[in-house]
Amino acid sequence: MAYKNIIVEIEDHICLIKLNRPDALNALNLDLLGELGDALADAQKNDKARCIVITGSEKAFAAGADIKMMAEKSFVDVFAGDLFTPEEDAIMRIRKPIIAAVSGYALGGGCELAMMCDFIIAADTAKFGQPEVNLGVMAGMGGSQRLTKLVGRAKSMDMNLTGRFMDAEEAERAGLVSRVVPAKKLMDEAMSAAAKIAEKSMITVMAIKEAVNRAEQLPLTEGILFERRLFHSLFATEDQKEGMAAFTEKREPQFRDK
Ligand code: CAA
Repeated sequence: MAYKNIIVEIEDHICLIKLNRPDALNALNLDLLGELGDALADAQKNDKARCIVITGSEKAFAAGADIKMMAEKSFVDVFAGDLFTPEEDAIMRIRKPIIAAVSGYALGGGCELAMMCDFIIAADTAKFGQPEVNLGVMAGMGGSQRLTKLVGRAKSMDMNLTGRFMDAEEAERAGLVSRVVPAKKLMDEAMSAAAKIAEKSMITVMAIKEAVNRAEQLPLTEGILFERRLFHSLFATEDQKEGMAAFTEKREPQFRDK
């Protein structure tokens, strides 16, 4: 499919989606978010895509929702039109793993998009922030909620109320990102993490994603039960037999997603 605001490549079982509005630091307008949702839905359906990586440019993963697109909107426009809800839902319904490879600015909706991914690998140049307060609004795609779950109330309040940016090192310390690497190595690191995931059984990988995401929603005993039942159900797969046989036979497993 031809996209105008993103570039999509599927190679070696990895779907790489590059946000591509360089003149606006990848600001997220509805066209871009619509294309992103379509590309993700295609990747979900496409057997050739086993892991997804979303990235931006060296300077910006994304500098937020498109301020120029929003500037003249009224309350009725955004409330009745449910601004960003379908776009966020389209991302959150993807069951295959998504890695955010973040270099430069990940601000506002950009930080929120990165947090919608399953984990974030950051370049040492990355800067995260929820600066919506400077615009007379607040985070609108999870920045007051997901960020609080990831970094805790104190840092989330600090970032949301002051609009200050967090550098990559602080973001790693705070638990927002899983790894920080030199900017030059960002894509190698993200693609090799994706390649590792792509080797696994897709059934197992999707079950893990579901279970970890439940940790944010459920009380511990319910979450543990959900995990336990998924763990039990994986014994119904051929891939469990293959994975355990391969270990015993001291060879690499050949998973078939069955
Ligand atoms: N929306 C629209 N355009 C944007 C943009 C955004 N979020 N961020 C940057 N741009 C545009 C700029 O307007 C500029 O375009 P022109 O050349 O046509 O003027 C171009 O991208 C380059 O930006 P700058 O000249 O500002 O670059 P800089 O290096 O001086 O500054 C920056 C970089 C600090 C990231 C600055 O661009 C900035 O502060 N951007 C806005 C960040 C922000 O407030 N994000 C939150 C948006 S609201 C939101 O996301 C709501 C939500 O939760 C859903």
